[in-house]
Amino acid sequence: MSNSDNFFNSIIPASNLFTNHVEKGSYIRLVTHNDADGLSSGGILAACAVRMGARFKISSEKKLDEKLIARLAEESPDLIVFSDFGSAYLESISETLKQDIIILDHHMPVEYEANNIIHVSPMLHGVDGAREIAASGVCYFFAKALDPANVNLACLGLLGALGDQQDSGERKSLFGLNSIIEQDAIDKNMLKKHVGLIFYGYETRPIAKAIAYTTLPYIPGLSGNESNSVAFLKEIGIEILEGDKLKALADLTDDERTNLFSALSNHMVSSGCDSSAIHQLIGTIYTFKLEEQSTPLRGGREFGSLINACGRMGKPGVGLSVCLGDRGDAMIEAQEVLAGYRITIAKALDWVQMQDKVEEQEHIYVITAENKVNDTVIGVVSGVLLGQGILKAKKPIVATAFTEDDQLKVSTRGLDELVKAGLHMGIIMQEAAEAVGGGGGGHDIAAGAYIPRNKEREFLENVNRLVEKTLNAYE
Ligand code: C5P
Ligand code: C5P
Repeated sequence: MSNSDNFFNSIIPASNLFTNHVEKGSYIRLVTHNDADGLSSGGILAACAVRMGARFKISSEKKLDEKLIARLAEESPDLIVFSDFGSAYLESISETLKQDIIILDHHMPVEYEANNIIHVSPMLHGVDGAREIAASGVCYFFAKALDPANVNLACLGLLGALGDQQDSGERKSLFGLNSIIEQDAIDKNMLKKHVGLIFYGYETRPIAKAIAYTTLPYIPGLSGNESNSVAFLKEIGIEILEGDKLKALADLTDDERTNLFSALSNHMVSSGCDSSAIHQLIGTIYTFKLEEQSTPLRGGREFGSLINACGRMGKPGVGLSVCLGDRGDAMIEAQEVLAGYRITIAKALDWVQMQDKVEEQEHIYVITAENKVNDTVIGVVSGVLLGQGILKAKKPIVATAFTEDDQLKVSTRGLDELVKAGLHMGIIMQEAAEAVGGGGGGHDIAAGAYIPRNKEREFLENVNRLVEKTLNAYE
């Protein structure tokens, strides 16, 4: 049997257990991570629970820790379903929580057997959970196993993959098990794909806004700055108006699009970006056909960004409501949150770049942001900085920020070529954090940790040394 067949088979005991609990009238607790992938996972699971008439409650959480586990123990539900986290916490979960547990995750798992836990993860079957399927995909296949009619949740299944940047195939496409979800969505007439300039709102948004609103790729001087984008378009001779209507990217002629692409490439090169960042300008555009034309939900990546913004700006409930289909009040609030998120990222990037805060160490880049950058967006900022290709040496970036509960949040982002050379930042975060009394994990390319504040220096030294050791071992 293939890896993916083994993965699909592993879902069946979990979906059977869930159905049994619904039929018994059990109280089911859904607990999900609070980023785009976690919230779209939660949206899928809550939709299934509603459709089955289950008795349930859902919450989204920044992290899975002892405090959360203790809270859940007190609530004492009959079944707990964790989504987008859990794989690394089997031991602490099983020590305290004695009811039935289902974990639907895609992070680096730990090896641990517990009678009351059904652990569904692509990583247990040789499928790459960092690139080929996200937690929302795992939840989507779980939903389909519950009821084939849940195929109409396919766009939510893709949303987590886009939010987690799994679009790293040719021309920024999704691949692996994500392609199966994509095909389901196309077959159900919910999804359209085409290749073009990657900016948000391809069909609908005025071009300057499309450029300014897009955070990946992050174009120095233009991203987050609409007036600079207008001036840029004028300078390269692109007419932004057609009559009294502001043109969208889809309204440009082929020549104008070519001109725009080459002007943007030149601008990025002269701003210090490398060729891989320029390649990010063109890619596969995922249009969610059932969403209103002029909303940020129409483009899969922007939808992912909107939900990520809700999670990372402390409004996960709003993101969850949008995933669950609220296109009224929650949508209005989510758009405000997204606008605030863009400003937060732009300010954080300005702070890092203006103050020259990226310190180059022997084997890693380091940013110690203290309270200058919110711990929930430090990872996004690190990803943007590395993605621009302005940092010339091929080193992972490790960034730290204070948390509200007096700890230190660590976010790290690697590079594909370092992963190919054997570097797994999730393993390094786990090892280096545990050595200083914290905890960490994640994926090979993007990972994180929580550690005591006074252990920052020791932790960074450990990471530096572990990166060196791993890369030397693979040379
Ligand atoms: O918790 P989770 O797996 O959902 O988050 C993965 C994180 O890694 C996301 O914030 C995503 O943007 C980031 N990522 C990245 N570069 C990649 C792949 C993922 O920064 N190539
Ligand atoms: O928060 P950030 O986006 O930097 O997280 C990067 C990745 O590391 C995410 O997939 C997140 O779930 C994971 N992570 C983890 N354990 C931690 C912190 C982050 O697995 N303690």
